[in-house]
Amino acid sequence: LVEELKPEVVSFHFGLPENALLDRVKAAGAKVIASATIVREAIWLEEHGVDAVIVQGAEAGGHRGMFMTDDIARQPGLFALLPQVADAVRVPVIAAGGIADGRGIAAAFALGAAGVQVGTAYLRCPEARTSALVRMQLAQGTDEATMITNVMTGRPARGVANRLMREVGPVSADAPAFPHAASALGPLKAAAEQHGKTDFTNLWAGQAVRLGRDMPAAELTRALAGSAVAQLGRLVG
Ligand SMILES: Cc1cc2nc3c(=O)[nH]c(=O)nc-3n(C[C@H](O)[C@H](O)[C@H](O)COP(=O)(O)O)c2cc1C
Repeated sequence: LVEELKPEVVSFHFGLPENALLDRVKAAGAKVIASATIVREAIWLEEHGVDAVIVQGAEAGGHRGMFMTDDIARQPGLFALLPQVADAVRVPVIAAGGIADGRGIAAAFALGAAGVQVGTAYLRCPEARTSALVRMQLAQGTDEATMITNVMTGRPARGVANRLMREVGPVSADAPAFPHAASALGPLKAAAEQHGKTDFTNLWAGQAVRLGRDMPAAELTRALAGSAVAQLGRLVG
């Protein structure tokens, strides 16, 4: 697909594919980026030829990109991790996790980022394929709403707590291996959603879920960039 579509950037999660495959991605002309959740992973990614490292802090929504550790209790937050990675690698670093407005972007740049990756803040944009049911849950999300769980897919990911996460998780040694937990939950999820319930639905979102806004993605992007520049100006001035 990459050879056919020739995207400008290919982003990997959970480490990198084997060298022969990675070489084909690069030969297709794509820049390669990938997530690191600890300094060791960032150094490994740089040694294996990525063009930039995404530094994913514990605040981030969705799956942890971890691949040299599975200890979620020790995953650093972005404020602590970002300057340590910026010191450890020469490639540009992209900050991810809990960034949802101009203040967060300015802080990330101050901590050594060359760019930011914003996920959760876009989930309520009309372009996102977020269902109405999930939008409602995200709109009500607070700073205390999310937890990291492995019971939804078999791998640790952060989302708004639902009944399954609360009752059999948030972390369980009995969760089927990734991605089998998700397929096993499929029928329960579908049946519950018919009754307007998200008891078994992935509500992936980060700790800044409350800062998400209901506006078109292009408008949000311009607003984020504009307010980041204003914030940086205020700090310098
Ligand atoms: C709904 C959702 C789906 C995601 N899916 C992916 C994915 O498929 N691949 C990936 O590299 N990261 C994925 N992420 C993680 C983001 O790349 C990023 O680390 C995260 O969104 C940044 O933190 P934030 O959500 O607090 O902005 C996802 C995040 C969310 C919220």
